[in-house]
Amino acid sequence: MSDNKRKYPGLFITFEGVDGAGKTTQAVKLQQYLEQDCKVPSELTKEPGGTALGKAIRQLLLTTPEEGAPRIDERAEALLYAADRSEHISEFVYPRLCKGIIVISDRYIDSSIAYQSGGRELNEAAIEGLSDWATKGLQADRTYLLDIDPTSARSRFETTRVSDRLESEPEPFQDRTRQEFLNLAKNHSDRIVVIDASQDIDNVWQQIKTDIDRLLQHYKEC
Ligand code: TYD
Repeated sequence: MSDNKRKYPGLFITFEGVDGAGKTTQAVKLQQYLEQDCKVPSELTKEPGGTALGKAIRQLLLTTPEEGAPRIDERAEALLYAADRSEHISEFVYPRLCKGIIVISDRYIDSSIAYQSGGRELNEAAIEGLSDWATKGLQADRTYLLDIDPTSARSRFETTRVSDRLESEPEPFQDRTRQEFLNLAKNHSDRIVVIDASQDIDNVWQQIKTDIDRLLQHYKEC
């Protein structure tokens, strides 16, 4: 658990992974478990789009050119994700952590490093520094990285909906993104738990549940 845990009574949990990995399903399961079985206060949120400003930014970021979106330079894209994150932390996440709430976010800083640095090949230190500045250094206490081959992940959503701007990027982009997530997990093994997301939903959930039960013991002692 990172040092910033001691600065507030809540717990900040994030879900990461390539598109179609199943983050949203597991984040919802976790929130239900915390509320119903553990009786601890928790809230679910996401990036981009966890605030009113974030929703406007999300619209800009994810609409495809075919849908009439403006061109977005890759650095402008990185700045827009950071702007969304800054507002999200100051308006939504941090005030709740201070009240002792467990905040679960569907994506956070690791997504910027994986997509903008891994996928877009922008400088990693610059991307990390940008998010660090935008969030005043707030890090997740625990991150679940749902790891899966991007091609298999794509087949999960491809038939049911149209791909957004990032999802429309070619295979090498998606492969670099996955690899960067795995590099992050290697370098932050105290925070990031890697889970094989090719397993069925219940098996993935059992692994998260085992870890969160351990984490909760510590949280309740604080
Ligand atoms: P997400 O909300 O997970 O997609 P959906 O709800 O459509 O499944 O993420 C939106 C996209 O934004 C996703 O392709 C990843 C991308 N993204 C970045 O490129 N950088 C970031 O910092 C974040 C948070 C997301």
